[in-house]
Amino acid sequence: MVVEEKEEEKKEELGSTWTAGRRSFFAYAGWTLFLGATLAFMAKTFSFTGFFFPKVLFEPSKKFPVGYPADFQDHTVATIKARRVFVVRDGNNFSAISMICQHLGCAVHWTVEKGVFECPCHGSKYYRDGVNFAGPAPRPLFHFEMHVSDDGKLMVDTSTIVELETVLTI
Ligand code: FES
Repeated sequence: MVVEEKEEEKKEELGSTWTAGRRSFFAYAGWTLFLGATLAFMAKTFSFTGFFFPKVLFEPSKKFPVGYPADFQDHTVATIKARRVFVVRDGNNFSAISMICQHLGCAVHWTVEKGVFECPCHGSKYYRDGVNFAGPAPRPLFHFEMHVSDDGKLMVDTSTIVELETVLTI
């Protein structure tokens, strides 16, 4: 009789423990779901707020100074690598020529010994004035507009392409 009572007490204890475990399991699951839903809601909300801000790329200006005229030696080609442009000086005449090859867009370089622009990718070559004469390039290098700023610096505007013969005379 005493043994049976003890066994029943044990069963009750086990049952209550199991019930408490099940309850805590559901409590954890509920909180987990609640937190997950809250985080998802916040992520959605914050991604939505991005709608109110302009999606812009901050690029450097296409009009930029390259230096004073005196910075360029006569009859030279100066490479402004950061801006992908050459500044060619002949006496008082200046011109800005693009570094971008007209074939597939590689950067051409000035070869002093040969006096030509050469493209390392497929062998296009351009005369000093940017006119193509060898390789697959279909047309001359672009020439960009130049002007002198109020403080006397040479300015290049890569947003404006000009005729090959166009030079800035100072
Ligand atoms: S990209 Fe210059 S020759 Fe092909």
